[in-house]
Order: sequence, then structure tokens, then C-alpha cells
Amino acid sequence: MASTQTLSHIYPLGSRVNELGHLELGGCDAIELAERFGTPAYIVAEDDLRARARAFIAAFEAAGQADFEVVFASKAFPATAVMRLFAEEGLGCDVASAGELHLALRGGFSPRKLVLHGNARDDGEFQLALDAGVGLIAVDGFDDIDRLERLVAGRRERQAVLLRVTPGVRGETHEKISTGQADSKFGVSVAQAPAAIARLQSIDGLELRGLHMHIGSNLFSTEPFRVAIAAIAGLGDFPVYDIGGGLGVAYAAEQEPLAIEDFVAEVVGGVHELLGAGKRLMIEPGRALVAGGGVTLYRVISVKDNVSRWVAVDGGMSDNLRPMLYGARYEADVADRPGGSTRVQLAGKHCESGDVIIKDVLLDDPRVGDVVVVPVTGAYGHAMANNYNGVPRPPVIFAKDGEAHVVIRRETLDDLHARDV
Ligand code: LLP
Repeated sequence: MASTQTLSHIYPLGSRVNELGHLELGGCDAIELAERFGTPAYIVAEDDLRARARAFIAAFEAAGQADFEVVFASKAFPATAVMRLFAEEGLGCDVASAGELHLALRGGFSPRKLVLHGNARDDGEFQLALDAGVGLIAVDGFDDIDRLERLVAGRRERQAVLLRVTPGVRGETHEKISTGQADSKFGVSVAQAPAAIARLQSIDGLELRGLHMHIGSNLFSTEPFRVAIAAIAGLGDFPVYDIGGGLGVAYAAEQEPLAIEDFVAEVVGGVHELLGAGKRLMIEPGRALVAGGGVTLYRVISVKDNVSRWVAVDGGMSDNLRPMLYGARYEADVADRPGGSTRVQLAGKHCESGDVIIKDVLLDDPRVGDVVVVPVTGAYGHAMANNYNGVPRPPVIFAKDGEAHVVIRRETLDDLHARDV
């Protein structure tokens, strides 16, 4: 019977194939979701996001790290509804621009729970952060120090800052999302750090609380973290260490990322060994919190055969840039016929040959009108969506216990010229 069919573990928590043989997400039938909200649409299983937030917190407690903060890297899914959910779960929030800062405040984060990052923030962005009273600003270089020194002069309260250090470690990931290598646009090198630390400590309006690093994204091993922590351990004894984000996720069933529990346990172990047990430890997961909770629904518009079978859907590189940018690999299913053995090219609707969502994916004989589900699109999908070819961006729909509601509406054609003057 269809309902006993098991679904790949890469689908959101609680997903299943229902009695009708349809994929069900957050208790909602994917075919009904597509009919009710239209396609393409991002569907987010709320419980999945909450479970991952709780898993991070439980993992720190289990690892014996008393003083910690899990900071959601909001760039992975900068939506106020997502931010509100993680604020409710007690997380902090990493913002990398005035825009993300604005969204996080609107999403209900206390300013104290915010960490401002970035390698090129102008006076306006710093001023906004100072006025809002953000908990921490990560200082990325000497020009930041000059800028902040000017902006905090005469302020009554000292602004807490971290210094971002580039540990000179390359995490094994796509080169475009590796950040810890020596020749990086981020942070100061280990060699330059002592001078930056001395300058920060000499400025009255700033309080240097500790060090920050972020070595890269979608990492499948904690080894680079250990090497990086060792590299910054000699720079002094600080109360706070923020080791950034980067925990990888499975986009395809055969990929085996570290479980949140194991990742945190190994990192905490490394920190205790190299820095001591009494530190405040911060971590900034983005992808690992939101990737797996989100799926994208598309509708098949055309099927044609030449050398391959080309199945074209109503979205593509405007709602998921990752295949184009990083050659990222995804899986898919037809919503009412999961599984299957017809090899197809799942193509997007954009006017570029490279706009292929998945090369060589096995589906159950897709036909025009079918709903196709692509899992693991919660991270950096909505975040990097764009209007290429004048395609309106999809809505974000939260699903939980069989109820679904829109948290970001679909863009309209009129939105496309709303900024015309
Ligand atoms: N902290 C900092 C300072 C970061 O720059 C990033 C990501 C994170 C935390 C979160 O990293 P995560 O846990 O998500 O790996 N657009 C790319 C990913 C870019 C990541 C940029 N920085 C993608 O779609 O793969």
C-alpha cells in the first residue's frame, strides 16, 4: 500500500507518503498545497526548523558546554517568519547587512541577540547597529576599526565587539563558499590579529569580548574547525569565541553529513581541549537549521524528447540559484508518484541552457501538469531568489499539523515595476 512507502530522509521531519500515495509535508498534501497556493512555492515544515534549533541547544547541553549561544545565520533564510520562529526558540541571529538587521528586528529578535557581520559595512550600517543596540559587532579589519572608533566616540555605552580572524584553513567545500583560507576577503590574518587586538583594546567606546571565525559552508568534517581553533588559540585569552557556521547537510540521500549532536560534541571537545571549558561559545548555523525543512513545489509545463527527456517546470534559477552557482545537486519526486525510473533533465523556465535544476534525475514518467517536489531548498533558496526573466518570486508557505499559511506572498507582476520612478 502506498502509505507504507518510505520517503528519503532528506525530506522534512514528519514527511510521508499519505493514503492517496501523495507526498505530505507538515501534514499537508503536496498536491493540495500546489493547488491552493500555486507554483512554484517554497513550503517550510515548521516543526522541522524547531526540531533542529532544539537539537543544537540540546547538543551543547549534552556536551557539557554551560555558556553557549546558537546564532541563526539569517542569510540562509532571511524571512521575518523564520526569524520569529528561531527567536521563539531562544536563538540569537547573525545579520550581515542593514537589510538583515532590519528584518531581524522586525522578526522579533531582541537587539542584544544580534551579531552584525560583514566584510564591507558602511557608516550607515554600523550606525544602525549601534543605534539598535546590537549585542555584538564582528570587526572584519583595520578600516572597520577606524570607522567604529569614529562612530562610538562620545557614546555612553561601550559597544561589544569580536575580532574576525581568518585562521588560514581551507574547509573541504565549494571554493566559492570557503572563507577560512589565508587569501580571503574576510577577517584579519593570524599574523595581523595582535595589532588589531591592541587597537581595539585601546578604544574607549569598544569592548573586545573575543574572537570570531567562519571557515566555510556545507562542511562535512569538524577537522578544519579543530585546526582553526588551534590557530587562533595563541592570540590571547578571551571570554567569548564564535566559531561561525558551516555544518553541511544532505541534498541527496547518499550524502552523510555529521548529525547536529556529533558536530557540536566534536567542536565543543576541541574548544575545551584548546581554549578551556570556561568560555562562552557561539556558533552560527544557517544551512543546518533551515535547509532540510524547506521544499520547493513546481508544476511541469513541458516534456520533450531529444537526446534526453527534458521536463521543464515553472521555476528554476530565479528561485534556486544553487545548481547554477555551485553545481549543487538536488533530488526530486513527482508529488503523487514518488520514486520512479525515468531518467530526465529537470529544467527551469529561464532563457539559459544552464538553467537545469537537476541533471539526470529519476522520476516516475513526469507529464505536463504534474507537481514536482524538490527537497532541501530551505537554505539559500528564498535567500538568493531573483527576478531573472521578469519571473515573480515564489511565496513562502509554513505547514504544520495539516495546516498551511502564507508567510511571504507571491510577488505580483506589478511588484516588478513597483520601484519605477
Ligand atoms: N556565519 C558567517 C559569518 C557566514 O558568513 C555564514 C555563511 C554563516 C555563518 C552560515 O553558514 P552555514 O551554516 O549556512 O554554512 N550561498 C551559499 C552559502 C553561503 C554562505 C555564506 N556565509 C550556498 O547556497 O551554498
